[in-house]
Amino acid sequence: NWTPAAFVETTVAGLKAKIGDEKVILGLSGGVDSSVAAVLLNKAIGKNLHCIFVNNGLLRKNEFEDVLHQYKDMGLNVKGVDASARFLDALEGESDPEKKRKIIGRVFIEVFDDESHQVENAKWLAQGTIYPDVIESVSATGGPSATIKSHHNVGGLPDFMKLKVVEPLKMLFKDEVRRVGKSMGLEPNLLGRHPFPGPGLAIRILGDITREKVAILQEVDHIFIQGLKEWGLYDQVWQAGAMLLPVNSVGVMGDERTYEKCVALRAVESTDGMTADWVNLPYEFLQKTSNDIINKVPGVNRVVYDISSKPPATIEWE
Ligand code: XMP
Repeated sequence: NWTPAAFVETTVAGLKAKIGDEKVILGLSGGVDSSVAAVLLNKAIGKNLHCIFVNNGLLRKNEFEDVLHQYKDMGLNVKGVDASARFLDALEGESDPEKKRKIIGRVFIEVFDDESHQVENAKWLAQGTIYPDVIESVSATGGPSATIKSHHNVGGLPDFMKLKVVEPLKMLFKDEVRRVGKSMGLEPNLLGRHPFPGPGLAIRILGDITREKVAILQEVDHIFIQGLKEWGLYDQVWQAGAMLLPVNSVGVMGDERTYEKCVALRAVESTDGMTADWVNLPYEFLQKTSNDIINKVPGVNRVVYDISSKPPATIEWE
């Protein structure tokens, strides 16, 4: 009979025995799985756990700074690496969704490899892999663990991949990971976070990516997500976000005719991301959110709400 507390106790003891006083590297993503894995390892080996949190320039507004602070407050030995320019430069001019994913995966590996060399004498690579990732990877590419998997059979592996791998959550389902996290005192806001794709806003900006488009989408997304929280809707939704469409449409502002960008909002209910239904958000909420976005975000003059379910429409637009 499985309990989170018993799992923590046996896992921490097991990690201590397995790792001893060797050093471990772990890539934090800001998500639940890597965070819970980090806290477990921190309990077991403390400062010998070296966490790396990479800003790919495609995170939500303020996410890198906020989450990095939170990790530090939790006592994790974490290094924040702002590699935004490296990712955005590499993506310049690319519009194909799969190519964008590949570029992000490749740059992530490069950055992570560089950083792992800063940790002298590391022997282990820890990953927040959970049971569903083992059977079938929902997060196809882009996240730390997924990226590493998809490159397994490539010759000339980066050095960090030659490390021994430790995956303390490998036998758990998502809800069990959350319960384990809760029993170790992780903040509800960290445990209840919506899933967010590894390639981040890159696959929510349809077509090519520019810094200006990222900035616009971060503002739109922020208004939407803050609104969901303020209206008490965030926890009722499995995942939500905004898409920046490669479409300009005509609008009016005062006496002026505008020709500006259109964004789509998406909120879905799901259990595992494999199927999903769009959420019937209150009209008053959609009305307020749309007004806020159009009034506050220069360059956007139209907001639409995505009422497509998966299948056939995927959660992300790319
Ligand atoms: P789709 O769009 O396939 O998304 O319905 C299902 C779930 O997977 C996430 N997703 C990704 N996660 N790398 C990731 O790490 C990716 O390339 C990727 N594509 C989609 C998506 O956010 C949703 O939770």
